[in-house]
This record gives sequence, structure tokens and C-alpha cells, in this order.
Amino acid sequence: MPLSDRVLHPGLRRKIMSAEAAAALIPAGANVGTSGFTGAGYPKAVPQALAQRIKLLHADGEDFQIGLWTGASTAPELDGALAKVHGIEMRLPYQSDPAVRKQINNGQMQYTDIHLSHVAQFVWFGFLGHLDVAVIEVAGILPDGRLIPSSSVGNNKTWLDQADAIILEVNTSQNPALEGMHDIYYGTELPPYRIPIPLLQPGDRIGEPYLRCDPDKVIAVVHTDLPDRSNQFAPPDENSQAIAGHIIEFLQHEVKHGRLPKDLLPLQSGVGNIANAVLAGLNDGPFRNLTAFTEVLQDGMLDMLRSGTLAMASATALSLSDEATADFNANIGFYRDRIVLRSQEMSNHPELIRRLGLIAMNAMIEADIYGNVNSTHVMGSSMMNGIGGSGDFARNAYLSIFMTPSVAKGGSISCIVPMVSHVDHTEHDVQVIVTEQGLADLRGLSPTQRARLIVERCAHPDYRPALLDYMERAQRESLGQHTPHLLDDALGWHSGYLKTGSMMAA
Ligand code: COA
Repeated sequence: MPLSDRVLHPGLRRKIMSAEAAAALIPAGANVGTSGFTGAGYPKAVPQALAQRIKLLHADGEDFQIGLWTGASTAPELDGALAKVHGIEMRLPYQSDPAVRKQINNGQMQYTDIHLSHVAQFVWFGFLGHLDVAVIEVAGILPDGRLIPSSSVGNNKTWLDQADAIILEVNTSQNPALEGMHDIYYGTELPPYRIPIPLLQPGDRIGEPYLRCDPDKVIAVVHTDLPDRSNQFAPPDENSQAIAGHIIEFLQHEVKHGRLPKDLLPLQSGVGNIANAVLAGLNDGPFRNLTAFTEVLQDGMLDMLRSGTLAMASATALSLSDEATADFNANIGFYRDRIVLRSQEMSNHPELIRRLGLIAMNAMIEADIYGNVNSTHVMGSSMMNGIGGSGDFARNAYLSIFMTPSVAKGGSISCIVPMVSHVDHTEHDVQVIVTEQGLADLRGLSPTQRARLIVERCAHPDYRPALLDYMERAQRESLGQHTPHLLDDALGWHSGYLKTGSMMAA
């Protein structure tokens, strides 16, 4: 489909220009809000042109950096291109680009890790400063200037509303049949005028299929036909299959005891290989006619929709491999009847998560014996990706499950430790911990009861004796006996690894 069929607003047709010309309109020091969520629907041409411009300016000795605000992670054409030319001064929120990660961790880039449901409202509240430019990928522009969203929604509604100037990237490689899949809710007033959000079921449509956009604020329309990043997932290995097996057994147990209905409650599934593998396990499991109220739809969710395990799914973005994208495009009519894409302030909204009663399943880096979870920091100081939506879901879900293999780095790190090296989710927000070794149901248990169960069920056998030894010594020597700890020893697990390359010495 040619560009002229996608840009139907006459005034905006007159603003079509090259990516280079559009990038030249972005001033130094601007806060730029872009589309993009887990590698879907991010602008592809303007950021690369901007990176090229920054490179030339830096070569001439000029300072030029921007603040980059997104929905979540993007791709090499955006995060990667701008990081490589040192074009980002401040990044927020979730990211997963290796070049960005490196600069965050060597102190060259500022990074603010924010709950994904908070980002839009923090901008409305004025907490993050002024948004100067929005750069938004869309699938098309209607005659009246409204926009057909692309493969993610993220914070686009907020960026379009808050930015002084808007650059639209019309991506002709995005399927035009995406039209109608989105639900953009505009009933979000600020406190003290907020009203309840009228969403009662995951599949409810409470808004409009289009993004509103003031054509007078649009300074450029740019054509692109580049596809979204391919999100390749590792095939489920023995560990992730075992984790999936433990979770399914647990859910069946909950159904049997009347704590969950037989078609469960809406599922939320986090990002990464383990989460995708758990979906594969659920797809082979006994449940049918499930629903999902989640943030991203990875390959596993499409498989579940196709098989009928899942009846419908609500999210803010697709995050698919090339093969899954091909299937999605070939069967978009089927998927459009079963998928609703929303703004991330809705997909991750605490009110909705609590009302619907989600089963939240998120991956983690490590957990401690008392149930505190670290999702973001390797060895307590290096950022991996960010908290993403894990806090939105964990804090408000009906059941919050965290999962990880019991060891990392070939067994030299235990993912169950005496004290996490960074806390993202406190013991109060974590009901279940699961590794390939087993599952610990922490509901209603005291800290010392939790510790015993987590070590017995979840720790790798190589680390169990050292963890039990720690617990016993802490129960003898700790000042307080509610959450017994020996602080020097607890932190020694991580410092031991940093010194020797293994936690075995702990
Ligand atoms: N200590 C040090 N490194 C560890 C570790 C530990 N305890 N556990 C895992 N790692 C390393 C792995 O070795 C791997 O490193 P590599 O990239 O150098 O190979 C990396 O962390 C990722 O681990 P992996 O097992 O491949 O995990 P994943 O793809 O399932 O992702 C998270 C796990 C936690 C990084 C990911 O889920 C995440 O970013 N979560 C936070 C956001 C979130 O939960 N969002 C969901 C809400 S919708």
C-alpha cells in the first residue's frame, strides 16, 4: 500500500519530508517522547537520521544530547543508534539495548527506572519536566487527522497530548488491518477529578480505536517501511519446562481447593525466555478458555490464542519473532477479534489489575530466603533492563508469582541468596517463588517459615547446605529473631562472587 493511501489528511500530506529534514527540527536538549514498547511500533527512520546528525555535530565539537522517553524497550535503530553517538543524556523508563545498558552501567548515561504505569501520569503531573517533541510510529493517518496506532500503544496518547511538536512516522510495513485492534481510553482525569475506569473484563473496549492528534502540532510526516525488531526466544529448555510444570501443578491445586475458578483468572506474563517458555507449558496444559490482561504479547500468547487455550488477550504491545509476526499478519482477522491493544497506563493500571484479580508471572534475577525479589540489578549495582511493569502487577495481582532458574552463569551464582543485592519487590508483594527445583507458596507464612520453604523447595542442591547453615547461624546469632540476618555474611555471597567468580565460597 503506497504512502498516499496511508496519509489521508490533506494538510498532513503537505508535511511529508525526509527523515533527515524531520530530525533537523529536533533541538538540542529536547525531551523527546517516542513510540515503542518491547521492540514494537518504535520510530525507525527519524532516530537514525538524528543519530547521524548528532555524530556530525559532535565531530564539529558541538554538544547535542536529548532526553529519551519511550513506552519501554525499543531496538538498535532507536536506542542503539542514539546511544552509539552518545546522544542520550537521560533515558526512561524500561530499556534492554546493549549499548544503552553499557552506558548506564559505566555512568555515561542517566537512567530513571519507573513503574510503567507511572510514566504517563508522572508526565501529566509535571514530575519529569516538559516534553518537547513526540516521534510516533503509526500505521496510518485518517482524513480528520486521527492516527491508526501501530504494533504497540505504550505512552503514545500522552506524548501526542503533552508534546509541543509532533513528528509522525508512517510505517507502510505495518499491516493496515491493525486498524480496529486498539482501544485508547481518554477518560483519564487528574486527581481530584478521577473517576473509576469502566473496564470489567479483559476484553472490554472502553475507548476509541484511534489516537487523537492535533494536526497543527505536527511538524513533519516521514515515511518508513522497516519492520519491527525480531524478538527471538530461546526454545524452552529443561529448566523452563520444569518451572512451567510446577506452576501448572500449583494452579490446578488452587482450582481444586476453590481458590481459583476452573478457567483461572486473567494471566499476566512477563518478558524474557522463561516467561515465554511458561506460556508454552500452559499451552500444553489442561486449561482452556483462559484470558490474559498483560503488557506484552510474546510468541507464546499467539500460540495459546490459536489453540484455544486463551480466548482473548489485552496488552499494550506485540513482541514477536519473525515467524510469529508472519503468522500474525497472515491471520490478522482472527487475532483482531481476540486481541485488544491499550495504552500502557491502562494495561498496567493498578485499579484494573486489582479488580480483575490477575495471576502475575514474572521472571527475576534473584530472590532471597525471605521472599524479597531483585528483577533489575546484577550484583546489586549493574542495571539489566529495568523494573518494567513487574511492580505494577506484583503489587496489585490476585497472585504474584516470581520465577527463575535456581542458578545462573553455569552454576557459579545461586539465584536464591540470603539477602538480595537490590530490592524491586518486597516480601509483601511476593506470594510464590518457583525455580526448576520446585515451588514455594509463601502465603500466610512468617519470615523464618518462608526461608525454610524457599531453601528446601527452590534452592539448587549445591547451595542448599550453605543456605541452611546461614539460616541456622542467623537464628542463633542475629540481634532480632523476626527476620534473622547476619549482615556481613549475607552480603558476602555477592562480594564473594565478585572476588572469586563463584558463590560456592560463601
Ligand atoms: N545474578 C547475575 N546474573 C544473572 C542472575 C543472577 N542471579 N540471574 C540471571 N542472570 C543473568 C543471566 O545469566 C543472563 O545474562 P546474559 O544475558 O549475560 O546471558 C541475564 O541475566 C538474563 O537472564 P535470563 O535467564 O536469560 O532471563 P530472562 O530472559 O528470562 O530475563 C529478567 C529475566 C529478570 C532479566 C527479565 O525478566 C526482566 O528484565 N525483568 C524485569 C522486568 C519485568 O519483569 N517485566 C515484566 C512485566 S510485564
